[in-house]
Amino acid sequence: MTPETTNAAAQPKGYRGIGMEGFIAGWYARQTAKDIDEFKNTARRLAPHIKRGTCVLEIAPGPGYLAIEVARLTGCRMVGVDISRTFIRIANENARKAGVDIAFDEGDAADLPLPANGFDFIFCRAAFKNFSQPLAALDEMHRVLKPGGAALIIDLRKDFSPQAIRDYTKDKGLINGSIIRMTFNTMLKTRAYTPEGIAQLAAQSRFGQGDVRLDPIGFELWLRK
Ligand SMILES: C[S@@+](CC[C@H](N)C(=O)[O-])C[C@H]1O[C@@H](n2cnc3c(N)ncnc32)[C@H](O)[C@@H]1O
Repeated sequence: MTPETTNAAAQPKGYRGIGMEGFIAGWYARQTAKDIDEFKNTARRLAPHIKRGTCVLEIAPGPGYLAIEVARLTGCRMVGVDISRTFIRIANENARKAGVDIAFDEGDAADLPLPANGFDFIFCRAAFKNFSQPLAALDEMHRVLKPGGAALIIDLRKDFSPQAIRDYTKDKGLINGSIIRMTFNTMLKTRAYTPEGIAQLAAQSRFGQGDVRLDPIGFELWLRK
């Protein structure tokens, strides 16, 4: 990777943040409610890293499905921060219906409305590529993590293959599958990070480094303070 591309990854993107409001947020919440098994599987994978009663933050939880599953499974004290007012309302309603106690609040990943050194674990799924100030968002994760804490970013990898997306969408239905494939191949691919790009960004952040793990369509970036 050249210095130019390295710096490009850290540059603020040309928008304030892809906050999803109103109808779009409602549509996304209804669509992703169908992926509840995927959220449950992810929660089971995160659970061994989270002890009962510890403080956990989800950044950009959207409708809050993953936060709800993680809180249920682990008994942690869960907080969620999202830039979208509509998603905060939907997520609080979903938590109330699920009977779990989670504080979802409005805020920007690049300027978290939270004190320093407060969280044992942070996660952020399917959202990091949308952040307009990615380096500031990583530095904010570092600020609010307790020393010894860990953060995990789960997102789409830019270099996914067409076959990987076909496999991912094969059970999503004819129309929804086509819409998802089109969105992945256009808007999401444009914003997504390559494995090298996300590793370089982690290296430039206050974390100093990160551990990138790959699957056919996504990456996990593990960060430790
Ligand atoms: C595609 S949704 C993902 C939601 C959820 N994490 C999931 O896995 O379904 C992207 C989320 O990022 C949020 N978002 C975008 N920019 C943000 C920012 N700068 N700070 C906080 N949240 C942001 C959006 O409002 C939205 O909830």
